[in-house]
Amino acid sequence: MGLFSRNELLGLDIGSNSIKAVELDWRKKSPRLKVFGMIHLPPEAIVDGAFMDSASIVDSIRSLVEGLKVKTKNVAVSISGHSVYIKTINVPNMSKEQLEESIKWEAEQQIPFDIEDVNIDFQILDTQTTPDQMPVLLVAAKKDMINDYTAVIEEAGLNPTIVDVDSFAIENAFNLTNESPPDEVVALVNIGASVMNINILQGGTSAFTRDISIGGRQITEEIQKRLKMTYEEAEALKVKEREAGAQSAEVEKIIQSTAEQLATEVRRSLEFFAASSSFGEIKKIYLSGGCAKIPTLPSLIEERIGTPVEVFNPLTKIDYNADEFSPDYIKEVGPLAAVAVGLALRREDLK
Ligand SMILES: Nc1ncnc2c1ncn2[C@@H]1O[C@H](COP(=O)(O)OP(=O)(O)OP(=O)(O)O)[C@@H](O)[C@H]1O
Ligand SMILES: [Mg+2]
Repeated sequence: MGLFSRNELLGLDIGSNSIKAVELDWRKKSPRLKVFGMIHLPPEAIVDGAFMDSASIVDSIRSLVEGLKVKTKNVAVSISGHSVYIKTINVPNMSKEQLEESIKWEAEQQIPFDIEDVNIDFQILDTQTTPDQMPVLLVAAKKDMINDYTAVIEEAGLNPTIVDVDSFAIENAFNLTNESPPDEVVALVNIGASVMNINILQGGTSAFTRDISIGGRQITEEIQKRLKMTYEEAEALKVKEREAGAQSAEVEKIIQSTAEQLATEVRRSLEFFAASSSFGEIKKIYLSGGCAKIPTLPSLIEERIGTPVEVFNPLTKIDYNADEFSPDYIKEVGPLAAVAVGLALRREDLK
């Protein structure tokens, strides 16, 4: 033990609707929730994955971190969407060191981006099916996007330590709370404001990922347009006033029709996966993100796809002090915290 730990890490999920921060306390056997908080971003700050107003993102990170009295400077952050390319490829058997040498060449054959514009990462998978070839999870992310994220963190006075991918962070959070039998196939579906992240796992390891530019923002914009109000008013109608029991038939109708579109997108992706792979049937769908809180969405997806849906709350199996965080609050915000929890868990990798 030292007087301070270099291994402290804040998980920071910079979403287009809100930024979430999670820090875990590792002094006990299992991690305990130390810090959790979120702050809304103005709707025009991040649009279609692009940082349109970096200054307000920096301000929001600052106030969030100050408000939560976070001491650590080290931050794990994640990216998603069309600037990230993820694919499982097969390469001839070789050592990790050899692959480090040749991954750029392998990636060049596979990715739709210019190799000079991306950072490459990979992981050798243990799901080998052919004797002379090994499966490798290849990740290529646009340098521009990585720079956007690290720049706002640095400007907020913090130190970007890890850059992860939304889907993999959720997988990390999921594996903390779930033991998966080796052949079990499940789908993690995270639906936020602008992006839907789909990650299909076999035995706890990613077998397929896809990000689709669709989410809760569509619902808000539709309410805004139809009821002729500001984005903020429409968002309040959709979330707060509805939670307070103020139902409007028109708003319900808009939410339902957009929820149908979200369910259709999930179905399409799962069908694509089923048609293009030899994996078993998907046993369960774990739904997270703000849209998991649309009351009818889990059952709608269940109906459309014929697969059971469970709302995934990564905080239910993490200890916390009930005087600090009320159990109702944990239940309420848990589904939105999946990415940030997974990022905070990366502290394990720093050791
Ligand atoms: N109770 C609720 N009912 C309906 N929608 C909700 C509710 N709570 C949150 N949402 C919606 O969920 C979305 C926010 O989810 P989330 O925090 O996962 O997104 P994000 O991470 O900020 O965005 P991104 O898609 O860029 O990752 C918003 O569109 C919000 O309106
Ligand atoms: Mg998000």
